[in-house]
Amino acid sequence: MDKDLFKKICGSFTTGVTVITSKDKNIDYGFTANSFTSVSIDPFLILFCLNKDAKSNIALNNKSYFNVNILNEQQTNICNQFANNKFTPEQRFNNIETKNSSNQIKIITNSIAYLECQVTSKIESGDHYIYIGKVLEGHSSDKALKPLVYQNGLIKKLL
Ligand SMILES: Cc1cc2nc3c(=O)[nH]c(=O)nc-3n(C[C@H](O)[C@H](O)[C@H](O)COP(=O)(O)O)c2cc1C
Repeated sequence: MDKDLFKKICGSFTTGVTVITSKDKNIDYGFTANSFTSVSIDPFLILFCLNKDAKSNIALNNKSYFNVNILNEQQTNICNQFANNKFTPEQRFNNIETKNSSNQIKIITNSIAYLECQVTSKIESGDHYIYIGKVLEGHSSDKALKPLVYQNGLIKKLL
C-alpha cells in the first residue's frame, strides 16, 4: 500500500476534534488533535497521538497535566488556529477565551466538554508518540452543543 492510500483510508474514518492544552515553564501549549480516544474505564484512561516534531512534546512529560477540550461546531477558527504550525505557542491562544483548570492548564471556553488528565505513559511509535493519560476531572456543557467533525481532511458539521 502507498502512503496516499493509507492516508485516504485513515482519513475516511470520521472523528470529532479536540484541542489538547498543556503547560511548561509558564508557557501554554495547545494543538488540534483528532487522535483522542478513551482507553479504559477502570481506571479512567485516555490517549492521543502526537507527531514527534510537535512543540507540545516539550510540555508533555511523565506526570505532566494536560486538558482535552472537545470542540463544538462553532469552533472551526479554534481548530485552525491550534493546527497552524506557523504560530508560536503564545500566538495559538490569541483571541481565544480560556480559563484555567485546577492544575492551571487552559480550558477553552464553550467547548462541549473537557477532561483534565495527567500523563502516565509515553510510547514511541513510528513518527508519533502515543500519550496515555489518567483522567483527574472533567466537565460537560449543559448546553446542547453539536460537535465539530473531521473527515477526509475537511472540517464539517453534523446535519
Ligand atoms: C482536525 C485536525 C486534527 C489533527 N490531529 C492531530 C493529531 O491527532 N496528532 C498530531 O500530531 N497532529 C494533529 N494535527 C496536526 C496538528 O494540530 C498541527 O500539526 C500542529 O501544528 C502541531 O503543533 P505544533 O505546531 O506545536 O507542532 C491535526 C490537525 C487537524 C486540522
